[in-house]
Amino acid sequence: MTPSDVKATLSFSDGSPSMDLPIYKGSIGPDVIDIRKLYAQTGRFTYDPGFLSTAACNSTITYIDGDKGELLYRGYPIEQLAEHCDFLETCYLLLKGELPNPTQKTDFVKLVTNHTMVNEQMQFFLRGFRRDAHPMAVMTGLVGALSAFYHDSTDINNPQHREISAIRLIAKMPTLVSMAYKYGVGQPFIYPKNSLSYSANFMRMMFATPCEEYEPNDVLVRAIDRIFILHADHEQNASTSTVRLCGSSGTNPFAAIAAGVACLWGPAHGGANEAALNMLKDIQKQGGVEKIGEFIKQVKDKNSSVKLMGFGHRVYKNYDPRAKLMRETCHEVLSATGLHDDPLFKLAMALEKIALEDDYFVSRKLYPNVDFYSGIVQSALGIPVSLFTAIFALARTVGWIAQLNEMIADPEYKIGRPRQLFVGSTRRDVTPLAQR
Ligand code: CMC
Repeated sequence: MTPSDVKATLSFSDGSPSMDLPIYKGSIGPDVIDIRKLYAQTGRFTYDPGFLSTAACNSTITYIDGDKGELLYRGYPIEQLAEHCDFLETCYLLLKGELPNPTQKTDFVKLVTNHTMVNEQMQFFLRGFRRDAHPMAVMTGLVGALSAFYHDSTDINNPQHREISAIRLIAKMPTLVSMAYKYGVGQPFIYPKNSLSYSANFMRMMFATPCEEYEPNDVLVRAIDRIFILHADHEQNASTSTVRLCGSSGTNPFAAIAAGVACLWGPAHGGANEAALNMLKDIQKQGGVEKIGEFIKQVKDKNSSVKLMGFGHRVYKNYDPRAKLMRETCHEVLSATGLHDDPLFKLAMALEKIALEDDYFVSRKLYPNVDFYSGIVQSALGIPVSLFTAIFALARTVGWIAQLNEMIADPEYKIGRPRQLFVGSTRRDVTPLAQR
């Protein structure tokens, strides 16, 4: 962190001594005011529910400029990564800081490929779930359970353990997600086939059966690979902060990533793609494009809790750059699958156009986010709606691990322990039960 020449001064109207606070500059983005000594020197905490103004760490991994609608992984724009790289190159970049050269890529792909199988015993663990369990409930359990199967990589303070658990998680997530899917539809699990690429292998584990081989289609494989790239990291979002906070206690990497999976499930975060597609289906059922006006009215009504899912973002106050790429992929996939007249895609485009012209959305800087289109793409790939968030978790796993490992390797890291403003009852005495 580079100290700035400028200092902030905090003064109080009650005559308490003022305090100078150091300011640090990042390589890009807003400066931060260092308040670490605030409590020791003033006896006061800061108050920032939802972390609207709080940087909880310094990081070199991902940068978002929400006003410009820019997303950089290790400095590289997401648009260039989506065009020139595949998901495993992106994983290498996020984990190690640089894009791999051809030899490094070959070695990394080989390493990940060698870990795609999961302990056979995990099947029996999975079989304990109800068949109709939500895949995210299953994934939370399966990822947490990895620590019960891979005892040799659970020490978060051991760099080799961190490295091997990272590779295991990236390699095994597609296997686990497809197992969760196959279990739900009552089909046999399909083992990984290591001659295929990461994404082609995932599509095969999802859609092959023992009686019928799956021929990966290049456009569809490229589309799922792009979904993985676009979701790979997004700096200090809710699930990543959860992983950091959970990992800060020294828990094992599998447990920390399972916490991230649980957080991602929520409809305000990773669950939004599922919610966005369900919303489009509902509008379609009620009459389609003609009903958009009525739906928008409900969204704008302060007394209704209806939201335009797939719109709005805590950080992007401009078009989410991932949404633009996803929209492009949507066209490609729908053409490749012969679904170019897909009514849901048409409805999504009409809804987007109307919302982007409506003052309610314009004045609040609400633009489509990645989830607005990713559900339509995934549906066209044959992925059921209930599995969308699990696909997001698969992709985000590398970001979670990169962020977790960055935190653990930081000599300044401490257990995360937010403070509070207590507004409950002050000290009082217990009245014995008989007298209450
Ligand atoms: N539909 C209608 N109104 C909205 C929406 C929406 N999707 N999003 C925000 N608003 C309104 C909100 O009601 C508020 O209005 P007012 O100022 O009149 O009270 C204003 O816009 C500001 O909203 P906010 O809730 O303060 O914004 P936030 O930064 O806390 O919330 C969000 C961000 C993503 C939770 C929210 O926009 C949302 O719930 N969107 C829908 C869910 C969604 O698509 N989530 C996916 C996010 S992208 C995937 C990921 O990275 O996880």
